[in-house]
Parts: sequence; C-alpha cells; structure tokens
Amino acid sequence: MMLSKYKTIGFILITGLSNFKAIAQTDVASAFKFATSQTDFMLTQVAQAKAQTTNANLVVPRNIDKNGNLAIIPSKDWCSGFFPGELWYLYEYTKDTKWLNEAKTYTAFIEQEKFNTGTHDLGFEIYCSFGNAYRLTHDAAYKDVIIQGARSLSKRFNPVVGAIRSWGNIGTPKFTVIVDNMMNLELLFEATRLSGDSSFYKIAVTHANTTIKNHFRADNSSYHVVNYDQETGKVIEKITAQGYANESAWARGQAWGLYGYTMCYRETKDKRYLEQAEKIAQFIINNPELPKDLIPYWDYNAPDKATQPRDASAGAVAASALYELGTYSKANGKLYTSTANKIVDNLKAYRPNIGESKGFLLLHSTGSAPAHSEVDVPIIYADYYYLEALIRKQRLHDHQPVVKQ
Ligand code: GLY
Repeated sequence: MMLSKYKTIGFILITGLSNFKAIAQTDVASAFKFATSQTDFMLTQVAQAKAQTTNANLVVPRNIDKNGNLAIIPSKDWCSGFFPGELWYLYEYTKDTKWLNEAKTYTAFIEQEKFNTGTHDLGFEIYCSFGNAYRLTHDAAYKDVIIQGARSLSKRFNPVVGAIRSWGNIGTPKFTVIVDNMMNLELLFEATRLSGDSSFYKIAVTHANTTIKNHFRADNSSYHVVNYDQETGKVIEKITAQGYANESAWARGQAWGLYGYTMCYRETKDKRYLEQAEKIAQFIINNPELPKDLIPYWDYNAPDKATQPRDASAGAVAASALYELGTYSKANGKLYTSTANKIVDNLKAYRPNIGESKGFLLLHSTGSAPAHSEVDVPIIYADYYYLEALIRKQRLHDHQPVVKQ
C-alpha cells in the first residue's frame, strides 16, 4: 500500500518534470519556427533593398531606419557578421541545407574584413560569421579567415596600455577602450586554438586583465569608455559614449561585460574572470531599475524610466551569457539559468508578427540614445544573441555542453 503510494507520487513527479522539459523544448522549437519564417521574409526584404540601390557594397541587414526602410550595410560595418551568424544558427538548429547555403553566401560577402586593421570589431564581424561557419563545417578555408582576422585585430594591441585599441587609428594619441571590446577576444582565443600561436591568447588575457582593473566601479557596473595615454598607459578619463552619463550603467555595456568575462573563463579557467562575470550578473539581476520582465531600459540610471526605451539586445546578450555562466557557477548556477529562461520567455512579447518589421526577430532595441541613433527599433545583433540563447537553452535541455566548440 505504502509502496504504491510512493510509486504514484514518483510517477506524478517524473511526469511533471518531463512535462516541464517538454515545454522547454517546445518553446525553443516554436521560437525557431518563428525565426525561420521571419528570416525567409527578411531574405526577400534584403533582395528588395539591394534591387533599390546601385551600391554593390551594401550586403547585409542591420536595422529599420527612420523612414521605416530596411537598412543594409557594407561588410566594414561593425554589425556585418550578425546576419551571417544568424543563418548559421538557423542551420545548426534545423539542419536544413537551405540555411547552410544562405549562411555560406552571406558569410562570403564579408570575408575581405579579415584584413581590416581599422576596427576593434573584427571579433563581432569575423567570429559571429566565420567562427560559426568553421564550428559547424570544419572547412579549412573558414579557419584561415579566423586566423587572419585575429592577426589584423592584434595589430591594434598596445603592450604599454595592455589593451586593444577600440576607436581611432593605430598611433593616434588618444587610446580608447570600450567595454564592448571584451566581446572581440573570443576571436583571439579561437585563433590560438586553431593556429597554435599563443600570442593571440596572451593579447586576449592582457586586455581582459586591464579591463578588470580600469573599467569597473565599486558596485560592479562598468564605464563604457576608458581613454588611455598610449605612450604611458595611464588612464586619462573614464566616460560614456552610448550611456546616459559618465557615471551611469549603460545597459548593453553591462551585458557585453557579462558575456565577455563568462567567455574568458570558458577559455582560460581563470577564477578571476568567473568572479568578475558573477559580480556583473549580480549587478544586473539585483538592480532595482531592472523592469519586471527583465529586459532593461537602455541605461540603468536614465531618469523617468516610464518614458525611456528598452534595449532588447541587452536582454538577449545577457540571457545567452547567463545560460553559459549558469554552468560554471557553483553557488548561483540555478539562478542564472532560471533568469535566462525568464528573459528568453519574456522576449516573446518583443517579437513582431510574422511577415512584419522587415523580418527582424525582436523589436525595441536601442543602439545609441545620446546620438538619437537606432532608438527603440529592431537591430540585428539582438536577433543574433536571441537565437544563440535559444540554442544554448536547447543544448542544456539535451544535456550537451552549453557552448559547442
Ligand atoms: N559595440 C557597439 C554597441 O554595442 O552598440
């Protein structure tokens, strides 16, 4: 009698658990169904936009502009890697060769950037596109692009400052480093793995260490911009470019830092990076200014919140990072995973209807509010990190390593 009672309870528990798991899986499947339909539509919109311009350099989508048109951009734009990357994620999830072919086509459009030494954004451009391409195909041609991209990015490293220059030409006096630059280190780690050349790895850890030292405040939020003297390596000023104020916490910057240090821990197993990622996670999760749906306003310190736009991209980047951090944190792993789940669930409310908004996946991102640029619009990187977060959610559900290398 007792035994069968426990059996019944056990059955209910197991059924409940597997229902929960089935829900997680169904959610990801339905999000990818939405994403494939929207991206089909976006491909038609990109083709239309290309037909309307004589500029053959405009190759990939970025946002919806102030006139409501789809903005397409050249390979040299910092956002050029995200759409190819999305196509790789669609292929990864669906295994449909249609997406493989589109991914190959759009990735090829931006290959020339591997020689670009004029930007720190080569990580975004080359890793999100060619990095995923190599990860999913192991085609040696993609590997060569990654290594060349890392060589070009490394040219912007200054050993006196101990960092990669974000903005400005190599050699100009003001040496600017933005917290976003943490994201570009993933390309360097991968290039060392693929080439055996440890110089890329050393540059990455030096940059990460310098950023820990100078970019973070006592409350674990980060400055957006730190300017250095390139001759002495001294910090000249700590300011903002895309945030509300010099002393404020620009939402996407916090997400870039969270993702960057989580990734650095994955690559090095250095505990300092795990600690830094956890500090940033706590800043975000415990922030009284974080709205109930966990999608931040564009800056945690912007006043009159009710009138301020959100930044869905910051939510998507944080969700993807938290899925990974959840697998490393002994004390808070469950909290990070459940927070990521909530963000991903809540982002459903940020999706447009299928066949609308030029095929973007998420509405309500903010590029640069101070510059009145890309405010409360769909932006391609929000979509990229949304798909990445969904893939990570699925991998966790399938008991796979959260990041497939
Ligand atoms: N890296 C520029 C941005 O996050 O807007």
